[in-house]
Amino acid sequence: MSLDAVLARIDDDLPAATERLLDLLRIKSISTDPAFKSDCQEAADWLVNDLQSLGVDAQKRPTPGHPMVVGHAGPETGKPHVLFYGHYDVQPVDPLNLWDRDPFDPAVEDTEKGTVIRGRGAADDKGQLMTFMEALRAWKEVEGDWPCRITFFFEGEEESGSPSLVPFMQENADELRADFAMICDTGMFESRTPSIVTMLRGLLGEELTITAPTKDLHSGMFGGISINPIRVLSRIIAALHDETGRITVPGFYDGVPELPDELKAQWQGLAFDHASFLGEVGLSHPAGEQDRTPLEMIWSRPTCDVNGIWGGYQGDGFKTVLPSQASAKISFRLVGDQDPLAIRESFRKMVEDMLPEDCSVAWKDHGASRASVTPTDDPAFAAALKALTDEWQVPAAYIGCGGSIPIAGHFSKILDTTPMLIGFGKDDDQIHSPNEKYDMESFHKGIRSWARILDALS
Ligand code: BES
Ligand code: ZN
Repeated sequence: MSLDAVLARIDDDLPAATERLLDLLRIKSISTDPAFKSDCQEAADWLVNDLQSLGVDAQKRPTPGHPMVVGHAGPETGKPHVLFYGHYDVQPVDPLNLWDRDPFDPAVEDTEKGTVIRGRGAADDKGQLMTFMEALRAWKEVEGDWPCRITFFFEGEEESGSPSLVPFMQENADELRADFAMICDTGMFESRTPSIVTMLRGLLGEELTITAPTKDLHSGMFGGISINPIRVLSRIIAALHDETGRITVPGFYDGVPELPDELKAQWQGLAFDHASFLGEVGLSHPAGEQDRTPLEMIWSRPTCDVNGIWGGYQGDGFKTVLPSQASAKISFRLVGDQDPLAIRESFRKMVEDMLPEDCSVAWKDHGASRASVTPTDDPAFAAALKALTDEWQVPAAYIGCGGSIPIAGHFSKILDTTPMLIGFGKDDDQIHSPNEKYDMESFHKGIRSWARILDALS
């Protein structure tokens, strides 16, 4: 097999590969909003078609939510069996007025920092997902065959907490079990060091609504005598952290480990430039637990954040309303052995204990997943690091990741398959935000990286 020929084919085919990605980016597959249900079907159909055009035995598989796409290719025996996971769903596009173009009319743009592919999902995760597809397309075209047994596994609910994934994995475990699950949904360290993510934070999502008076009131008539639920909610939220940045929910830190010395030393070696990381978004001061390093704050320490808060009158002008209700969405990033369900219980009790008279609280749960850590002792990890180093000409690193990919832990637990998290995103890709982009370099070298990794593993 000639890796050089495959890499050359990838280079020649880049314009066509880019067109295919733009085509996928035009589909409005926003999973969280029921208005885009048929768009999610369309994205799944698009992937099935593309896989079938490669000669993959691929199908759209129904779930109670958006469909999965599963495909198989390559010899049934021998060589490693590699499962490739990506998600075809994307985040909502609001606030739309902050986009410089229609998020679903993607384009290749030349910017000061290089050429980018702009559009919702370009980096999270359609562009990343297509890096693997394109690597295999080139491989198949040059070699006429597959590098090893490959299973493709794409979901359309990652951005809404993957509700159908666990049951689907359980029901189809024999079909999906592989030696490695390549998960392409992460980024590179400081946008230039190719990386394998070995630590992901877990996530607990909670929504609460505090109700006090039975209806909105005139704040002149009732102000002073009526309790205001926005004030109650604000006081509760303000109490969730102490002045050093520690989270005050009782028992919250149970199961939070200290970093092993070896990892501490390795992270020090990465020489994270927090000033430039924060500077990119107009900040300068690391605002987490004050006795922790900036990398610890984003990779190995748990957090509590308010993601949204509302109540009362928010329209134009002014209204002297004393609202009946106040709500917030609050998320906790979790590490180590923190138990999301125990934290949910303790958090709810803390809030309920703080409620004054005449107030009640209603809860909505938005998912709970544990943190995950991947062991890297299998020699395939060293082989993948070397392949990444060869492609990027920068020594590849094992890193943490502040984000959450709840499914990563399920691959090992349900399928007994080792997850390997490799992605080519950059810190300024603006995932989940307006003007999301994926660098052409990420796309091109990402495709080439997969060819090298598959070559090394097979
Ligand atoms: N691709 C991201 C995870 C990610 C975030 C990787 C940041 C690298 C850097 C993934 O699609 C995502 O956004 N996950 C959600 C969790 C999900 C349950 C909504 C997240 O981390 O908020
Ligand atoms: Zn993603």
